[in-house]
Amino acid sequence: MSVSQQLEEIRKAAMGELDGTNNARELEAWRVRYLGKKSQLNEVLRSLSRLSLEERKAVGAAANRLKADLENELSQKEQAVRQDRLVASAGERGIDISLPGRSFRAGRLHPVTQVYHEINDIFISMGFEVVEGPEVEWDYYNFEALNIPKEHPARDTMATLWIDSEAESGGRSRLLRTHTSPMQIRVMEKVRPPLRIVVPGKVYRYEATDATHIPMFHQLEGLAVDEGITMADLKGTLYEFARRFFGEDRKVRFRCDYFPFVEPGVEMAIECAVCKGEGCRLCGSSGWIEILGAGMVHPRVLERVNIDPEVYSGFAFGMGIERIPMLRYGINDIRLFYGSDLRFLRQF
Ligand code: PHE
Repeated sequence: MSVSQQLEEIRKAAMGELDGTNNARELEAWRVRYLGKKSQLNEVLRSLSRLSLEERKAVGAAANRLKADLENELSQKEQAVRQDRLVASAGERGIDISLPGRSFRAGRLHPVTQVYHEINDIFISMGFEVVEGPEVEWDYYNFEALNIPKEHPARDTMATLWIDSEAESGGRSRLLRTHTSPMQIRVMEKVRPPLRIVVPGKVYRYEATDATHIPMFHQLEGLAVDEGITMADLKGTLYEFARRFFGEDRKVRFRCDYFPFVEPGVEMAIECAVCKGEGCRLCGSSGWIEILGAGMVHPRVLERVNIDPEVYSGFAFGMGIERIPMLRYGINDIRLFYGSDLRFLRQF
C-alpha cells in the first residue's frame, strides 16, 4: 500500500469512528488513537525523513492536511458534545433552554424631562444659551427688580410661598420663586448685551390643586437683549418655536396682556389639542390654551441693571413647561405628571 493510500485509509477510519463518539471520554480516546504520539499518522510524519525529496514534499503535504482536518473535526465534535450535555442537563432540571429570554423593563426619562430637553434644544439651535438659577430667591429678584414693588397688585396674582416673614427679614425676605423671571435680572447684572438666554427650572405657587394647577411646576424663561430688537423678533422666535414643536398646522394666537416687567406685554396661546378649538374641560371651553407670557423688556428693568434703554432693547418670555406635553399629547390633567402612576408614565 502506498503512503498516500495509507493516509486515505486513516482518514476513512478516523472519520467513521468519530461519528460514533458521543462523550468526552470517547473523544479523548479517539484523539490519542488518531492524533497521539503513537498514532499511525504520527508514524507517517516521522518516516518522512526516509523518503526522497520529491516524495517527502507530496506525502508531507498530504499528511499535514490530514492532521489539520482531523484536528478541526475533533474540535467541532467537542463543541457539539458539550452543547448536547448542556441541553441534557438543563432538561433533567426541567429547564427549557429553547424558550426566549425574559426582557426586563428599562427606565426612561419623565415626560416633562423629555420635553424640557426638546425645548432647550430648539432654543439652543436658535442661538440661545441655557442657564439655571436658584429656586429659593430674594424678594428683590422675584418682584422688586422686575418692577413689582411691595404694594403692587401683581404680587397677588402670584400666590407666593414665603420663607421669611416680612418682620423677621428686615425687608430682605426669601421666597420660593414664583416664576423664572428673576433670572432675567441675575443674568443682566453680570452679562452685557448682546445676550440670548433660556432658563428652565422649577417654580412654586401657593394655589389650590386642580386639572391645570399644581403647587410646583416648571417654566422656561427666555431673554434676548441687543441693539434694535423689536416685537417682530419676539413673534418670529416664538412662532418658530411653536412651528417646530407642535408642527406647521397648529394655530397660534397672540393677545395683549399685562406683566409689570414688560411693555408692551402679550400672551401666546395654542389651539387646544383635545378639542381642536371646539372647547373642552382642558381649555376651559375657549378652544385655546395660553402657554406663555411675553413682551418687550420694560425700560425701567433695563435701567435697574445699568443697560441704557435708549441704546438697547429686548424681549422676554416665560412658558409653563407642563402645558406643552399636555397640548401635544392631549393630556387633560396636570396632576398625572406627578402621581407616579407607571401606567401613565410608561406611555412616553
Ligand atoms: N413670568 C411671567 C409669569 O410667570 C411670564 C412672563 C415672562 C411674562 C417673561 C413676560 C415676560 O406669568
